[in-house]
Amino acid sequence: MSFFSFSKLVRLVLLASSALGLAFNPRRFSLVTWNPSGENVGLRVFGTAPDRRGFLELNTQNKGLQNPLWWYASMRLFGTVTTAEESDFAAISSRDGQQIIVFFVRDDGALVYGQWTDATADMWALKTVGGGAAPAANSSLGAAMWAAGHMSVFYQDGSGSIFESEFANGTWARPRAVATASLGTDINAVAASNANGMLKAVYVQGGASIIEWLSSASSGWSNTTITPSPEISATSRFSVSSGRIHYTSADGGLAEITGRVGLWRPRGGKLSVSNNGPATDVASGLLLFDWVFVFYSTADNTLWNQVSFAFYGWQRPQAFWPSGVPWT
Ligand SMILES: *[C@@H]1O[C@H](CO)[C@@H](O)[C@H](O)[C@H]1NC(C)=O
Ligand SMILES: *[C@@H]1O[C@H](CO)[C@@H](O)[C@H](O)[C@H]1NC(C)=O
Ligand SMILES: *[C@@H]1O[C@H](CO)[C@@H](O)[C@H](O)[C@H]1NC(C)=O
Repeated sequence: MSFFSFSKLVRLVLLASSALGLAFNPRRFSLVTWNPSGENVGLRVFGTAPDRRGFLELNTQNKGLQNPLWWYASMRLFGTVTTAEESDFAAISSRDGQQIIVFFVRDDGALVYGQWTDATADMWALKTVGGGAAPAANSSLGAAMWAAGHMSVFYQDGSGSIFESEFANGTWARPRAVATASLGTDINAVAASNANGMLKAVYVQGGASIIEWLSSASSGWSNTTITPSPEISATSRFSVSSGRIHYTSADGGLAEITGRVGLWRPRGGKLSVSNNGPATDVASGLLLFDWVFVFYSTADNTLWNQVSFAFYGWQRPQAFWPSGVPWT
């Protein structure tokens, strides 16, 4: 038996005009999970409101893991910042959930992030990615935390190049080009390791394939091709988490590839998604070894989640309406 953390039960969102029950615009969102095998586990979904004011957190905790999930209402963090119209969100956390970072593009085009700076007082700070980061306005964002105080955010410029901005030793490095991909590709990044140490892994779409780019301390970026079956949609949204890739398939559904960084097995499964239209975004995460959480949104602005529990397999999708009413 494991239960979600109580650590954020008392919320004092300073710097923010926080309110309960705000509508959540699920067109673009990101999620973090932490402590995949521990007792103190967490899951948060980040995005924005329909008016793009602030970024929001959907919070599920303290009622235990169950299906359907029990949700707190969305919380507005930074009511004063406006996100860019097509801004993506990339949320990352440390393994213990004590550090959470949410990247997004502000309406002036700056690549910024909210940093949860104080777990006890629940304070967030808004910061800018330095070093001259310049994503295209509608670029996807991918991010990963490599170690404490060491992270990168990946984005695309207007010519298709994928850049990495890396934060280490207290400063943002100048952006470095990693790869080139067709404009509008989704971007995902995850931290992994092999016998030689830490691996950076970045995923973009190339036609009918997902391209995996890997880089270690001793080698620069190199790629391999993953060709999903069922076929991936032309401009897929996809999500890479521990052991799973979830992607929008050409037939409008959601499908899964299992494996791990450097060794994916492309013949995956299909999830029993709703038929309310192709997914507009997807994000997934793992808790407790093998409890898989997939969140996706449909064209009618509904946020869905589908859960696979150990032994029981995939459960029916559950819809959340962005009604402003606390979800139970
Ligand atoms: C951070 O500083 C240490 C010590 O100077 C150095 O070894 C390391 O390479 C730096 N990390 C990055 C990512 O620049
Ligand atoms: C991104 O924005 C540019 C400029 O407005 C546009 O040409 C391009 O089609 C957009 N790409 C996507 C994937 O929306
Ligand atoms: C993979 O890397 C090779 C060598 O750098 C490059 O020529 C090729 O274009 C890359 N593939 C993709 C899909 O980006």
